[in-house]
Amino acid sequence: MMAANSKQLAGPILLIGRLGQIGWELERTLAPLGPLVALGHREMDLALAESIRDCIRGVSPGLIVNAAAYTLVDNAEDEVSPAMAVNGSAPGILAEEAKRLRVPLIHYSTDYVFGGPPQRGADGNIRPYRETDEVAPINEYGRTKLAGEQAIQAVGPIHLIIRTSWIYGSRGRNFLRTIQRLAEEREELRVVVDQFGSPTWARMVAEATAQILARTWGVSGSGSVAEKGGLYHLSAAGCVSWHGFAEAILDAAESAGKRVPRLVPVPTSDYPSPAARPVYSVLDNSAMRTTFGISLPDWHHELSLCLAS
Ligand SMILES: NC(=O)c1ccc[n+]([C@@H]2O[C@H](COP(=O)([O-])OP(=O)(O)OC[C@H]3O[C@@H](n4cnc5c(N)ncnc54)[C@H](OP(=O)(O)O)[C@@H]3O)[C@@H](O)[C@H]2O)c1
Repeated sequence: MMAANSKQLAGPILLIGRLGQIGWELERTLAPLGPLVALGHREMDLALAESIRDCIRGVSPGLIVNAAAYTLVDNAEDEVSPAMAVNGSAPGILAEEAKRLRVPLIHYSTDYVFGGPPQRGADGNIRPYRETDEVAPINEYGRTKLAGEQAIQAVGPIHLIIRTSWIYGSRGRNFLRTIQRLAEEREELRVVVDQFGSPTWARMVAEATAQILARTWGVSGSGSVAEKGGLYHLSAAGCVSWHGFAEAILDAAESAGKRVPRLVPVPTSDYPSPAARPVYSVLDNSAMRTTFGISLPDWHHELSLCLAS
């Protein structure tokens, strides 16, 4: 695969956001696909259009993968302009550069583009969100990420926008690491029980991205990334509340012989935060499965894999 792709590449893979949770994993999963240039915030500032254009023109990539974003959900309520520059405007500039170079752009987005009343199936039960469902972000982060999706779609390069959810891993700021840290410091943890989503290990997203590219990039015709590109959901299977996720993390810690704090379920109303969160933001991953043959394991299984890694 490496040789086949390398031959057809106009230039290296450009990975943006190499020090983020998904970016860190991507640097490892994309490396076997061909030459890779991986940049962090210091080398390319997505808030500055000139920085983006200069870097891309310097690298002249054959593929652009953007894993960088302004991800501080609560801070974004007060920092709308910087968040919009990085999440809303920069993807449009990346799209323009990708289109000019005629290379694919891979970009990540979020379940927080949803937030209105959950969708219901014919049986009346709540069902996961499909790519075709109406978006309705309820916080600034979600609005800026949606603007980024729309900017890419408006420019129209060959692209893949991958919406994922509740990302965690062994690096960076995430719920898993927060619970592990608090478990050592506190006697009691109070965790929200009425918000539901699908915790997804960053490594799984990075591995899936590499698999998609291995199957479609450098391929011509109907199997190509140009033909199959668009907007897709990719998260772990199943869903759980933040409380249920914390319980699974603490169960694993207890099984490993650690002392764990008491876990108390609380409603969102007991845990006010600057940004509103969707009560249900589970993604339907069937388009990803039928188009690319990729589906991620159940969230609980992913957590075990992450903890064992
Ligand atoms: N985290 C989640 O739960 C979640 C859920 C759904 C979707 N997503 C999406 O998945 C993607 C990756 O998320 P993640 O959790 O891996 O992100 P992350 O760990 O927060 O990393 C984001 C990276 O972006 C960089 N960055 C921020 N501002 C930048 C700028 N102006 N210029 C260049 N780089 C900048 C950060 O660098 P510094 O730290 O140096 O600023 C950081 O390395 C994002 O598109 C995010 O919206 C995340």
